[in-house]
Amino acid sequence: MNKDKMILRTRFIERAGHWLMVLCFFAVALSGLSWFFPSFNGLNAVFGTPQLARILHPFFGVVVFLLLVFLFIRFVKYNLPEREDLVWFKNMRQVLSGAHDKPLQIGKYNAGQKLLFWGIMGLISLLLISGVLIWRPYFAPLFSIPTIRLGLVVHAVAGIALILLVIGHAYLAFWIKGSIRGMVTGYVTRSWAKNHHDRWYRQLLSKSSKPGNKP
Ligand code: HEM
Repeated sequence: MNKDKMILRTRFIERAGHWLMVLCFFAVALSGLSWFFPSFNGLNAVFGTPQLARILHPFFGVVVFLLLVFLFIRFVKYNLPEREDLVWFKNMRQVLSGAHDKPLQIGKYNAGQKLLFWGIMGLISLLLISGVLIWRPYFAPLFSIPTIRLGLVVHAVAGIALILLVIGHAYLAFWIKGSIRGMVTGYVTRSWAKNHHDRWYRQLLSKSSKPGNKP
């Protein structure tokens, strides 16, 4: 890979944070799903034994939350709503067909990725709050039974919603060829940037044309 011909999309520290979070997320999600139905029980083998899964699930949940706080700090500036996002929504047919004939004024992340970003951040916050409420033996005794019941429902619904969002996110990441490479190596091709994030690409070009800046 000739890095001079590629564009840096995601820095090492952000990639490391993302993939570490993905590992922890899968362990937490699989152990959480194992408690929904008896036929899912085998999934808690992800932590070795059912007892270990019961102990470690909440601790790993907190690790997922903290890693997402880190990603929030790194990425929030690219995920704020902008007027140009409307162009993406209005041209959904072109977006879904994967055509690149008309520039859609897409910044570093498109409007769909921004919605997903806020969905992930909202749901993980709900999971943390409801998770603390139902965390036996440490915090649950501090709350009333009706509060714990509500916490259990919120935790289950938010968990399923987050798992579905993540499945959609991973599917789209594989569907858009070149995205995974960006999150693994950090680099994307110029044509990838131009096709999928045209406004971001133009901003990079205008920055690099200033004296002393590398393209
Ligand atoms: C196998 C699972 C996953 C794959 C293949 C994957 C892949 C990716 C890729 C390729 C990107 C970069 C997109 C781009 O450069 O345009 C990305 C970004 C991101 N991913 Fe994942 N991811 C996975 C799981 C997760 C999980 C579990 C979460 C959180 C619960 C997550 C949260 C994020 C966030 C917050 C970003 C930054 C996007 C933004 O700022 O809008 N990912 N992911």
